[in-house]
Amino acid sequence: MKIVVASSEAIPFAKTGGLADVASALSKALAEAGHEVSLFLPYYPQSTAKRGFTSQDFEACPEKVTISVGSKDVEAGLLKAKFPDSKVTVYLVDQPRYFDRPELYHEQGRDYQDNCERYIFFSRAVLAFTEKLNLQPDVIHANDWQTGLIPALLKIEYQQRPGFEKTASVFTIHNMAFQGQYWHWDMLLTGIDWKYFNRHQMEFFGQLNLLKTGIVFSDMITTVSPTYAKEIRTEQFGYGLHGVLDSHSDHLVGILNGVDTSEWNPEIDPHLAANYNENSVLEGKPLCKAALQERMGLPQRPDVPLFGTISRMTDQKGFSLILDAAENLLASDVQMIFLGTGDPYHEASFTDLSKRFPDQVATYVGFDETLAHQIEAGLDLFMMPSQFEPCGLNQMYSLSYGTVPLVHEVGGLADSVVDASEKNLENGTANGLSFWHFDATVLYRQMRRAMEMYADKQIWNQLIQTGMTKDWSWTHSAQNYLSVYQRACILRNQNNESVSAS
Ligand code: ADP
Ligand code: GLC
Repeated sequence: MKIVVASSEAIPFAKTGGLADVASALSKALAEAGHEVSLFLPYYPQSTAKRGFTSQDFEACPEKVTISVGSKDVEAGLLKAKFPDSKVTVYLVDQPRYFDRPELYHEQGRDYQDNCERYIFFSRAVLAFTEKLNLQPDVIHANDWQTGLIPALLKIEYQQRPGFEKTASVFTIHNMAFQGQYWHWDMLLTGIDWKYFNRHQMEFFGQLNLLKTGIVFSDMITTVSPTYAKEIRTEQFGYGLHGVLDSHSDHLVGILNGVDTSEWNPEIDPHLAANYNENSVLEGKPLCKAALQERMGLPQRPDVPLFGTISRMTDQKGFSLILDAAENLLASDVQMIFLGTGDPYHEASFTDLSKRFPDQVATYVGFDETLAHQIEAGLDLFMMPSQFEPCGLNQMYSLSYGTVPLVHEVGGLADSVVDASEKNLENGTANGLSFWHFDATVLYRQMRRAMEMYADKQIWNQLIQTGMTKDWSWTHSAQNYLSVYQRACILRNQNNESVSAS
């Protein structure tokens, strides 16, 4: 198949969260399965420079396109890059006015005011370059609100054009909490006729909603775990769009993300003090734990349980609960490490916690990928009590690094972590701890339970082994995406009419 993937971020070029890991890893897995994959993202020169890229890492393409964004004509350039050891072609859409900024989406907690315009431009540029480069894709796979306009443009403007006669669209929702919702006049920037601004298509309570646009116009919709696919059809998790999703449920599939084993694999991870696999974890992991304690300025004590987390510091990730529960648990002999950025309130609270308990808590406020790898390998227990979690990657990184996850049983956390109940321990499926009531006291009890289990080496090692021996790679999930692509192509070709307004 010929596949175009569009994402607002992708490692190693730009990353704020899991979308970046997924966009690249899925593209690589599809290419490995023999498909022709082009991955588009914006060119963020400040992000690539921070990540050590120079202009020599990118090949300037001669093609240029002019994109109409409202009344402006804006030129888009194109750069080309490759992943090491992969046939995926990476295209970076270049327009400094929109993308040459210190961050991707916001600075100091405030969104860039022209985000709607920036990603309308990007979405249009992806299609314009797909045409110009004559890629003739079978499928265009768009991700999240930033590329939600692509399925609409395909149906409304492109599908009868040469090179797009068979192109289907797939839209993946990575998080319902971010919908790209803007005032109605931004409809003018899309260049799409006002007739599509209605409650069945692009409008949501008087505003333009780009996530909804992606859902409504795509041939198939996916989200990043089977449980989240069910949850988002309910009022509690649907962020207002549960009705829309319910009415498109025939085309909605949940596929659990995988782990990019070329990036996240303790056996070859270059950031670790020692490499290990499931056979050598008991020798390798203590070395990583000691190195982590040293780096974070905590006493190097091999037997103290070391808990921690790496995350965007937001309410979604359960930081209020962690703070409450941690305060209580710190009366016991335990150490904790926190790595994250986000809500200034959470950043300050966890910094303060480390000042009050300097021998037990270390907090690093910032985004540090090397440290993230070292934490995954060095911790005993990874805490992920997210209020909701579409998929979550760190619990799967933890499982493959022999770090036991403690999670709230929602979304992808419910689909990957099996609680250490007596029954699950007996039948050999348990790989972590999970709980249902989203409450600080419940989390505290689970942390105590984890400490007791940690003291029982036989049970703890069983959890480690069960997590490490399962295949968390993308191989299986990439096959599921291919089935979705095939279904999308069938649906697309059953319905070749340009879409009309509802
Ligand atoms: P989300 O995308 O909702 O933030 P995921 O668990 O899917 O959550 O993915 C988060 C990704 O971002 C992981 O790869 C995680 O290691 C990484 N990450 C989050 N915060 C930081 C940080 N402060 N420093 C380094 N990596 C981080
Ligand atoms: C989103 C979700 C996270 C998911 C990631 C990649 O950021 O919050 O749960 O793992 O996308 O799909």
